[in-house]
Amino acid sequence: MTNPLFSDNKLKLGVFATNCSGGCAITTAPEALELTWPNTLSIAELADQHGYEAMVPVARWKGFGGESNFNSNSFETYTWAAGLAQATKQIGVFTTSHVPTVHPIMAAKQATTVDHISNGRFALNIVCGWFRPELEMFGAPMMEHDMRYEYAAEWVEVVKRLWTEQEEFDYEGKFIRVAKGFSMPKPIQKPFPPLMNAGSSGKGQHFAAKYVDMAFINFNPNDLEQAKAHVASYRRLAREEYGRDIQIWAGCPVTQRDTKKEAEEFVQYYVVEKGDDVAVDNMLRIQNVEMHRMLPQRAEQMRFGAKLGWGGYPLTGTADDMVVGLQKLADCGIDGVLLRWVDYWDGLRRWQKDVMPRLEQAGLRRPRH
Ligand SMILES: Cc1cc2nc3c(=O)[nH]c(=O)nc-3n(C[C@H](O)[C@H](O)[C@H](O)COP(=O)(O)O)c2cc1C
Repeated sequence: MTNPLFSDNKLKLGVFATNCSGGCAITTAPEALELTWPNTLSIAELADQHGYEAMVPVARWKGFGGESNFNSNSFETYTWAAGLAQATKQIGVFTTSHVPTVHPIMAAKQATTVDHISNGRFALNIVCGWFRPELEMFGAPMMEHDMRYEYAAEWVEVVKRLWTEQEEFDYEGKFIRVAKGFSMPKPIQKPFPPLMNAGSSGKGQHFAAKYVDMAFINFNPNDLEQAKAHVASYRRLAREEYGRDIQIWAGCPVTQRDTKKEAEEFVQYYVVEKGDDVAVDNMLRIQNVEMHRMLPQRAEQMRFGAKLGWGGYPLTGTADDMVVGLQKLADCGIDGVLLRWVDYWDGLRRWQKDVMPRLEQAGLRRPRH
């Protein structure tokens, strides 16, 4: 297999959101990612050299306002993946595709092209979209939640047929119609590149269990028992209802320093002093998170998590703390984590020097040389 996503590393590592200004940290701190091609490229080159399995972009078309106008600058994800694929050697390169914004024939062809550029290292993260202002730019009303996944199911079925069928085919769905569908060449990866999804609703989980190879979960970082049960039930759903084995991934905002105190001070700086509350509140409002119905403490936790790095399971502390946290996630049955830092270069270098050797010692990753 050519895609490192299927490597024998027990815990796979990916880097998230380097195609968007600010990455994942909703902060006005100047250390946050400035989006330029040399920046996004050099992060991918470092991750590639360090043996990571995945570079995963965010499908984003508009910012969230506030002083940072978080994520307002973004590179389109298929062309971003094509550039990284040419420049890297071993890492898996993802596109995150908003299904309502790309026709499946175009998506299948673009994905195949990147699979060839990368010599079989491409993967596709399929998302339905939830950020109304960006989807409405395309001139169509945003679909109701469950209908988005019905559309996505047709979309992925068409893409898979284009990737695998030699003969022309007609497709007559509720949403998508294809006349004499045809796409050549086929992807390098057989039968087709790995698929990912990060739906968290029941409908989203069924979509992931049925169609994809990697599913993301969101969970309360203070309740790992619940996370473990969630991983087990997700796998059971995929196995029992759809006869499939899937990987389960999680996301981690990372702040690693030589002492826990220094790490906590940096978090205090970028989240509490420099966090962009206006952008966070815009984002939560658009997601229909009903903050006013929550206990104030829970609402504050949610805001804090968003500013820290778009939620997820935070890793804050020393290299040893990172490994303790990752071991806990592996014990929950998590197969991979998407990491994000405020300063990606500093983060990747510290991780490579101090965390990678410890992950190897812990048996979570095999030694590379
Ligand atoms: C790791 C991860 C990556 C995601 N990437 C995107 C993205 O790039 N664009 C987007 O619109 N939504 C993205 N989402 C949101 C999900 O696609 C989905 O809308 C969200 O988890 C809510 O789940 P639901 O659709 O099942 O309600 C992402 C979610 C996660 C956890």
